[in-house]
Amino acid sequence: MSFDLVFFGGTGDLTWRKLMPALFQAFRHGKLPPDGRILAVARDDRSDESYRAFIRERFVEVESAKRPSDDEFARFAEMLHYRRMDLSRPEDYQVLKGWIDERGADVAVLYLATSPYLFPVVCEQLGAAGLNGPKVRVVLEKPLGHDLASAQQINRAVRSAFAESQAFRIDHYLGKPAVQNLMALRFGNALFEPLWRRESIANIQITLAEGLGVGTRGDYYDTTGALRDMIQNHALQLLTMIAMEPPSTSDADAIRDEKLKVLRSLRPFTEESVGRDVVRGQYRAGRVDGLPVPGYLEEDKVPRASRCETFVALRTEVRNWRWAGVPFYLRTGKRLVSRDAQIVVNFRPAPHTIFPGPNRPNRLVIKLQPEDGLELHLQAAKGSSQSESLAPVFLDLDFDKAFASERVGAYERLLLDAIAGRLNLFVRSDEQEQAWRWVEPVLDAWARDDEPPRAYTAGTWGPAAASALVARDGAAWPEEH
Ligand code: BG6
Repeated sequence: MSFDLVFFGGTGDLTWRKLMPALFQAFRHGKLPPDGRILAVARDDRSDESYRAFIRERFVEVESAKRPSDDEFARFAEMLHYRRMDLSRPEDYQVLKGWIDERGADVAVLYLATSPYLFPVVCEQLGAAGLNGPKVRVVLEKPLGHDLASAQQINRAVRSAFAESQAFRIDHYLGKPAVQNLMALRFGNALFEPLWRRESIANIQITLAEGLGVGTRGDYYDTTGALRDMIQNHALQLLTMIAMEPPSTSDADAIRDEKLKVLRSLRPFTEESVGRDVVRGQYRAGRVDGLPVPGYLEEDKVPRASRCETFVALRTEVRNWRWAGVPFYLRTGKRLVSRDAQIVVNFRPAPHTIFPGPNRPNRLVIKLQPEDGLELHLQAAKGSSQSESLAPVFLDLDFDKAFASERVGAYERLLLDAIAGRLNLFVRSDEQEQAWRWVEPVLDAWARDDEPPRAYTAGTWGPAAASALVARDGAAWPEEH
């Protein structure tokens, strides 16, 4: 299959930091269809050669095992091209169309790796230039809007030029192997399904923790915050995969219909429930990995009086027969103890126990990163004495080890899927809008609230109020067990 892949924003961070390294890995693994061209477009004047050199230099920032040798890069670079383009000029789209039509590849994937405020104008121009035929796919990178209205505005512009089946909205978490494994765990194994419901499950906790701070992105982050940056997209997508009903086929819309139903079943926030069920925090100076780090307000490009949240913990429920009454806790933050993403399914305790000592409930831990695996926590008798209490043990499954050579990174997987036209791991516009609809009352309540976010020390698990949030239901976060 032949393809043309065009990156709008071809000199931007996303392109050189994530997309080019991912494409190179796909190329190295022999997964990239061989008959392809990659075209980067941006405002500055460059030749193909100088663009190739620019990308080559940027590879020093990639971890060493993923860097190309000179010979590998030379072969990869044969696919790389560069054109200057002013995204507001219709003539420039005609030139691009000429470049694509001339060769007539089987597919043209247009990746909008630009600032999102350009999405509407680029989509309109693409439509006007006729760069929206059935062979064309458009890939959109987050942030897809800032709130419901701006997300709808982007979606209207996308729809004015493209069919929904041509729109590939990226949530890079969906490309992570561990996240795909969630589907395998739930729908490729019958074992857990009878237990996957309110009768057996006490609560579910999704944690997306980072040790890093906002780094050089202070200006972007300060107008975004943790709720928009991580909860509205990544955490909610994970929640839908945990809570959805089994789809009837692996068809993208069969899956996305079920995910949408979950989003629609989430308990809506009210002014009062935001105060009760949502905790927001902001980091202060502390130590992460033994090293001193500044507080959020001291970070580069962050206003000194900022009220932006760098931490969110919240409690919600999925209002349907399967999940009624089961708390779902979502938590994310920057400058927490370490990078740690996991989903914990806390089962109910045994209804009656004949053993002395605590009646510890079973737990299934779905580890997303840094490791990718499953832990099933059980109770066992050590065997020395009948009257002894049970000891906690766990089964540990390490997918990185089991499938080491076949693991594919998130962007690599998503780029290959976009080229192949597989929509399963991309977000549909109605899912995305429903997620905004759900978080918006929280944003509104915070905008009216005089209280600043709660301070937490960098290198901890966030404000104490996050522990109180789960303790109210008699639960505890995994690190508190
Ligand atoms: C991005 C956020 O979507 O996800 C970043 O904008 C965050 O703030 C990143 O750091 C986390 O992704 P990952 O793959 O490192 O967990």
